[in-house]
Amino acid sequence: MADFVAAVDQGTTSTRFMVFDHSGNDVARHQLEHEQILPRAGWVEHNPVEIWELTSAVIRTAMNNRGLHASDLAALGITNQRETTVVWSRRTGRPYYNAIVWQDTRTDQIAAALDRDGRGDVIRQKAGLPPATYFSAGKIQWILENVDGVRAAAESGEALFGNTDTWLMWNLTGGVDGGVHITDVTNASRTMLMNLETLDWDDELLSFFGIPRAMLPRIRPSSDPSRYGVTLPGGPFGGEVPLTADLGDQQAATVGQVCFAEGEAKNTYGTGNFMLLNTGTSLVRSKSGLLTTVCYKFGDAPAVYALEGSIAVTGSAIQWLRDQLGIISGAAQSETLAAQVEDNGGVYFVPAFSGLFAPYWRSDARGVIVGLSRYNTNAHLARATLEAICYQSRDVAVAMEQDSGVHLDVLKVDGGVTANRLCMQLQADILGVPVSRPVVAETTALGAAYAAGLATGFWKSTDELRQNWNESERWTPTWSEERREEGYAKWKKAVRRTLDWVD
Ligand code: G3P
Repeated sequence: MADFVAAVDQGTTSTRFMVFDHSGNDVARHQLEHEQILPRAGWVEHNPVEIWELTSAVIRTAMNNRGLHASDLAALGITNQRETTVVWSRRTGRPYYNAIVWQDTRTDQIAAALDRDGRGDVIRQKAGLPPATYFSAGKIQWILENVDGVRAAAESGEALFGNTDTWLMWNLTGGVDGGVHITDVTNASRTMLMNLETLDWDDELLSFFGIPRAMLPRIRPSSDPSRYGVTLPGGPFGGEVPLTADLGDQQAATVGQVCFAEGEAKNTYGTGNFMLLNTGTSLVRSKSGLLTTVCYKFGDAPAVYALEGSIAVTGSAIQWLRDQLGIISGAAQSETLAAQVEDNGGVYFVPAFSGLFAPYWRSDARGVIVGLSRYNTNAHLARATLEAICYQSRDVAVAMEQDSGVHLDVLKVDGGVTANRLCMQLQADILGVPVSRPVVAETTALGAAYAAGLATGFWKSTDELRQNWNESERWTPTWSEERREEGYAKWKKAVRRTLDWVD
């Protein structure tokens, strides 16, 4: 009897492999970063071959270090950066082009055209998404139109599309020798090509982008008792492990945070922030700038949906202080520097580096720092950066309340930036609700493992998983209502400056 369940978490900056026991504690892990390829302003690419090689390496290293074999694993789940687009040849196994990353804005003209002729509203209605550079369809269209030979290969069924989940599962299960070509409902819901009601590719949406159906993977449940396939014995596991789960990373984190009931939400703080609210089996259409997306589908049970507030730049604004401004030497220093001052000294920073995502969806917005006086120092800017992470999350929380009527009593958080205690305190202050972080901070990998283990009976039910969730730390609001509302009003004014800069 296998004692563990494993997960691959293929993220925007790194790939991580983790093995969990029945209590949800990790027993083995390894992680490696991959290159961020930035050929031009606004373009962001990854090398899919590098990602596959690093995935193999993190699996082998973690398994070897702990002396584990494929037979010790009851199941494997995959979770991944969503939207990032890979197109490769089923015959050679080689990508035709680098992966175009979700942050990449080269398709802004493709996205803008959608709202000029009514296609945008059809996409909103069918896919639950506003036309934006963020999603996969425009990136596939770009590759079809700009890389020689790909369109013909796509029409003949040789060229395959996938997000990085699909790419990795194809390679893990055999690659050119019969690898499975599949994705799950959560990843498919981020392409702009899946109909949220039928949970299938939609011919009208495909026609908007000129994408042949033959290149698309089969859409499967996120957790599947009739497993997608098994890993190839000659691959990094050295044996057969049942592949039974696949979810986009933010949906996986929602599962890892055991947000299984309607009205439960989590906020993940990474390069960007992603707040997801479980809306149960009903499809809530946003009027306030949020996305409607699939949260998960376990086996034959009906799909569970979510409202999502996606924010492009949060943790990456701290990286900007480090890499471009050089005012801190590491992310942790943003906390010590910001703690040198008692408040932001009147400075507000809106890091609209990739335009603004939810709830504004303005790809033409650009970042601003406002309210400067000679009194201000690096410390105020560091504090304004942490506040920007929290104010953007408040914008999204406000939109969620408007759309769903759900008022959060507590905000469950996870992700790298939650190690910054000052930022978490500011979040509680700016939102006016307590903020709670669980013991297992790697909720993304944990959620993929949970979905994989549920499929094989390693875990019997979501109730069993709930018992694994324990709080490690909680921050309660300390600001007066007056200070909170005054700060938020100034933030909204600063956001307007990012828009009137381009208006
Ligand atoms: O939608 C993009 C999101 O899935 C990326 O998440 O954690 O890889 O930055 P992350």
